[in-house]
Amino acid sequence: MSERAQFATKMGVIAASVGSAVGLGNIWRFPYEAGMHGGGAFIAIYILCVLFLGIPVIIAEFIIGRSTHQNANSAIRTLAPGSKFRYVSYIGICSSIMILSFYSVVAGWIAEYMFQSLLGGLNGHSTQDYAKTFNALAGSPWRSILWTYLFLGANFLIIRKGIQKGIEKISNFMMPVLFLLLIIFCINSLLLPNAKEGLKFMFMPDFSQVSPSMVVGAMGQAFFSLSLGLTCLLTYASYFNNKTPLVKSATIIAVLDTCVAVLAGVIIFPAVFSFGAEPAAGPKLVFEILPGIFGQMPGGYFWSLAFFILLFFASITSTISMSEIFITFCTEEHKMSRKKATRLNTLIAMVLGTLCALSFNLLDDFKIFGKTIFDLFDYVSSNILLPAGGFILAVFVGWVMDKKIVKEQLTNSGELNVRTMKPIIFCIRYVAPAAIVLIFLYVTGLF
Ligand code: PHE
Repeated sequence: MSERAQFATKMGVIAASVGSAVGLGNIWRFPYEAGMHGGGAFIAIYILCVLFLGIPVIIAEFIIGRSTHQNANSAIRTLAPGSKFRYVSYIGICSSIMILSFYSVVAGWIAEYMFQSLLGGLNGHSTQDYAKTFNALAGSPWRSILWTYLFLGANFLIIRKGIQKGIEKISNFMMPVLFLLLIIFCINSLLLPNAKEGLKFMFMPDFSQVSPSMVVGAMGQAFFSLSLGLTCLLTYASYFNNKTPLVKSATIIAVLDTCVAVLAGVIIFPAVFSFGAEPAAGPKLVFEILPGIFGQMPGGYFWSLAFFILLFFASITSTISMSEIFITFCTEEHKMSRKKATRLNTLIAMVLGTLCALSFNLLDDFKIFGKTIFDLFDYVSSNILLPAGGFILAVFVGWVMDKKIVKEQLTNSGELNVRTMKPIIFCIRYVAPAAIVLIFLYVTGLF
């Protein structure tokens, strides 16, 4: 195992995992999901999901990955020989590919917005014009596909280099700058006329709006945003060294990720209400609102360019991490070369990504279970596969794995005094698995 790469620094560990977690999930998906599900109540349930499902499952993934320094499949084989739990790695592979496919379409749109910002095309229009800008992009098959491919190409070039060089360098630098920019935009949004309405929408929950689809949406969003349940953080943890404090790192990742999502909300919703837009606009929400926000800021050209560049990199650090699941599996389980695995991963994502890009134009009438291919990939992976994967991983760590190893991992072999150990183990064993099952029963109407 010693020949496997390890993250060089403590910062690298956190930065790369935060790099995986923070991305379009926070800035694009969170506001639109919250907007579609009525705001406050969704956000309250989302935060409960992060606390009681998210953090325990991150820790469960960390324990499996770091205790074995192996990919999900062989890690579980090592920890529990013959156990069927290893099949969770296939859930991870399927969901990582589905997510990469639709994610790349949205990241492609971000790339185009970056390019348009550079050319000055995203500046000085009215809010209605930005709705047209987005529809022209998403409605055009060739433009959507072109940008999806360009994004996947960039992702390809980075992952081909291997874990250390590619990931660590980018995340260490980009994440803090993005955070800073978001805070500036927040202040700007709070000063908009009617900003109060947006804050009320976010922070005054109306629990009469709670519905099965909202609860399952909030759970799915928590898993998606934390990159959880598909063995992505497990794979990253397999590169951690034995000094990394798992509980602390998991908490920092969850807190930072949630802060970015809430910041994104505080940027978007005051503006939505100030511009008289529709909070339930769906996936196009941020694409229509953000340029309008930058447009009315002094130096709008600069802000919009800087923001889309940073968001582009935040997306890439996320897609790198989802690609790593498939690549580690191919190289370690099937002895494929890294180059070949990277190519295969990109190729599959290009084919499926094409279908996702076409879901907004040529194939927008093609529906399976009432959803376009894009929506279906998103729904099935985030709301079903990730929570199912999280359930399996939590049950594995809570009930199957040797308790001694679990404790050793939580305390770094007794070096750390983790006061929250008992509640964490309790959440991994009982709370997380039970909540996931109850939410599934609730949405299917069985409970
Ligand atoms: N968490 C990432 C985001 O919020 C998306 C992601 C999902 C990354 C699953 C890796 C695995 O953008």
